[in-house]
Amino acid sequence: MKVLLIGGGGREHAIAWKLSQSLKITKLFCAPGNAGTAGCAENVDISSSDIPALKDFAQSQKIDLTIVGPEAPLVNGIVDEFEASGLKIFGPNRAAALLEGSKIFAKKLMQKCNIPTAESISYSKPEEALRFIKKAGTPIVIKADGLAAGKGVIIAKDYKEAEDAVNRILVKKEFGEAGKRIIVEEFLKGEEVSVLALTDGETIIPLATSQDHKQVFDNDRGPNTGGMGAYSPAPIVTDELYKKIEETILKKTIKGLKDMGITYKGVLYCGLILTANGPVVLEFNCRFGDPETQVIIARMESDLLKILLAVVETNLSDIQIEWDPKSAVCVVLTSGGYPGKYEKGIEINGLKAVQSLEDAVVFHAGTTIKDGKVVTSGGRVLNVVGMADPLKDAIKKTYDTIKLVNFDKMHYRKDIGAKALK
Ligand code: AMP
Ligand code: GLY
Repeated sequence: MKVLLIGGGGREHAIAWKLSQSLKITKLFCAPGNAGTAGCAENVDISSSDIPALKDFAQSQKIDLTIVGPEAPLVNGIVDEFEASGLKIFGPNRAAALLEGSKIFAKKLMQKCNIPTAESISYSKPEEALRFIKKAGTPIVIKADGLAAGKGVIIAKDYKEAEDAVNRILVKKEFGEAGKRIIVEEFLKGEEVSVLALTDGETIIPLATSQDHKQVFDNDRGPNTGGMGAYSPAPIVTDELYKKIEETILKKTIKGLKDMGITYKGVLYCGLILTANGPVVLEFNCRFGDPETQVIIARMESDLLKILLAVVETNLSDIQIEWDPKSAVCVVLTSGGYPGKYEKGIEINGLKAVQSLEDAVVFHAGTTIKDGKVVTSGGRVLNVVGMADPLKDAIKKTYDTIKLVNFDKMHYRKDIGAKALK
């Protein structure tokens, strides 16, 4: 089979690495990919947002299956475009991807289906939002309705911060169209977990549990990022809790969409917070999480291609996914300054040394090849994954591996997974 994978982050390198182990694959392309995917796929210089060029490529190369990594092309209808041309593609269509594309749409669905979520109201007029915030008090959460590359959520500690957030989104239009409307939401306390499930619209298979670390500094301090590290399994999600999440969230979401005439196919990612009253949905994503995928894929023993094909062909009921019982830990190495400004083009050292390690793998994110050398090209640069049993040893394996790689101004958190040991 000829497969095209769309995206160029750590998530895509992990997926490409796993797919390249599938015996059924004769050729794997990655668009645009990174220096890591270049080692297990052929990179194609097409942006993940250029849907017409991706479709032309898939048609001319007679691609048998396309797999979409990031949310933007999904929300912009890449699946509808490919399917209309008779091309097989993994991911939800435009209507289903609205679950991530519009927080207001997701809220309405949750309210209608009694899916536990934070109380919220949507606004398009700043003065109305501010009037409500004054009455409701702080802390309070303000979210842009549409896609904002992970930057559209602001937790306001006081009224001044809330006013600033409302102005930035609704008045200054910092997020453009994505910020035409906002959600003002109650602030919830609890531990966050990511639950990812595969579904073909009929069958739902929850994937191994994982936990992300969003803030840039240790002890969850500093601004939110795309994710600084993850581990799997997340022991806080017991079998009993996972059953509850399946019943009260996953099944209801897929059924609620179906009742609206929408068949969700692909990965459904639920960002949950575990409150005193049980698990509550903070957000839905319509794709694999990053860096959650890196630890989930590291533990997956089954053939990923077979699983993704079963989703596309509505055969998921025939599939069983086997997991390595070991824990996997992923630590993200970032460019100094991320998630703010940072330099690019810095040479990365030590990548050869990690290639032959057992139970450790380095997935690339923001890397590229320049003059034959691997250099940084983004905020999140490398994802170091270590595996062992128990989790404590997986953490050690990961940090021992990190000692072998370096680049100037490299930053990473030193406490990934630590809270699960307490
Ligand atoms: P989201 O993109 O909606 O998941 O929000 C990004 C991050 O903001 C989440 O991972 C949480 O850390 C935080 N967050 C979002 N909504 C809430 C909320 N209602 N209460 C507390 N924290 C929140
Ligand atoms: N790790 C968070 C996300 O993928 O959105």
